[in-house]
Amino acid sequence: MERRALGSSGFEVPVVGMGTSRTFDVRGRAAEVTSRRIVEEALAEGANLFDSSPMYGEAERVLGLALDGRRDQAIVATKVWTPDDDQAERQVKASLAYAHGRVELYQVHNLVAWPARLDRLERLRDEGLVDVIGATHYDPAAFEELAATMRSGRIGFVQVPYNPLEREVERVLLPLAEELGLGVMLMRPFGRGSVLRRWPAPAELAPLEPFGVATWPQALLKWGLSDPRCTVSIPATSRLGRMTENAAAGEPPWFGPDERDLVTRLATRS
Ligand SMILES: NC(=O)c1ccc[n+]([C@@H]2O[C@H](COP(=O)([O-])OP(=O)(O)OC[C@H]3O[C@@H](n4cnc5c(N)ncnc54)[C@H](OP(=O)(O)O)[C@@H]3O)[C@@H](O)[C@H]2O)c1
Repeated sequence: MERRALGSSGFEVPVVGMGTSRTFDVRGRAAEVTSRRIVEEALAEGANLFDSSPMYGEAERVLGLALDGRRDQAIVATKVWTPDDDQAERQVKASLAYAHGRVELYQVHNLVAWPARLDRLERLRDEGLVDVIGATHYDPAAFEELAATMRSGRIGFVQVPYNPLEREVERVLLPLAEELGLGVMLMRPFGRGSVLRRWPAPAELAPLEPFGVATWPQALLKWGLSDPRCTVSIPATSRLGRMTENAAAGEPPWFGPDERDLVTRLATRS
């Protein structure tokens, strides 16, 4: 698995990690054991970055359980997500406990109360409990504010949506991240599954074989990661086997313009 520096912070991450929205919002022993095995599979493939949030129900708790006994192998990315200061304190306390006492990458979720939340995350970083601070948003209507957060000089990376059907970040945010030396975490590489609804025929993917791509999800992951401004992609899954498939997209060679155009055409055709 290729690893890249998260912008000028120098903190290294694998190019393929894993999200936990919905997929890890589970209860009960059987579901928690499956989650633990998915994490095990991701770790075995070198995809050792896990993104979560207090917004995702049980996900932080289930991820914490899955990392029991092997927390040192993982990079935990979570978020704080509330306009309320007291609630933010409770979230920080709970997130740190679930993540076994430290959070490598701590983000302000959807920019909620971001100046105040960054104050808190900076203090955690000063205390040595956090390595890099970031901010996320999924909605292009908020990208101007996200750009302002990036320009504030207070964050080391951003998390934004990027897939062939959601390319708004190419206009301002990716160039700005490059200019400022910020890392970029790609959320929704499969558009929450929407880009996976119709798979191209195997023959249509044949030109991507020399790039180590055998499946449509791998083509989509490699499409995003072949833009050198992108640092790490975080597909979510609830099923065993998929992290092995997804992690295989984290190896060079990377696509050139022709291969990216092919994937775009296949994803956007009606
Ligand atoms: N505002 C924010 O900060 C924000 C917003 C959105 C997302 N995020 C983060 O980004 C992560 C990823 O986004 P997402 O979960 O919304 O969507 P996504 O990763 O684009 O898509 C997830 C879907 O892809 C399917 N999938 C994964 N690997 C597959 C494979 N190899 N073959 C077939 N299907 C596959 C999963 O189904 P199965 O379960 O069946 O595998 C799941 O339904 C989230 O989990 C979260 O951590 C952050």
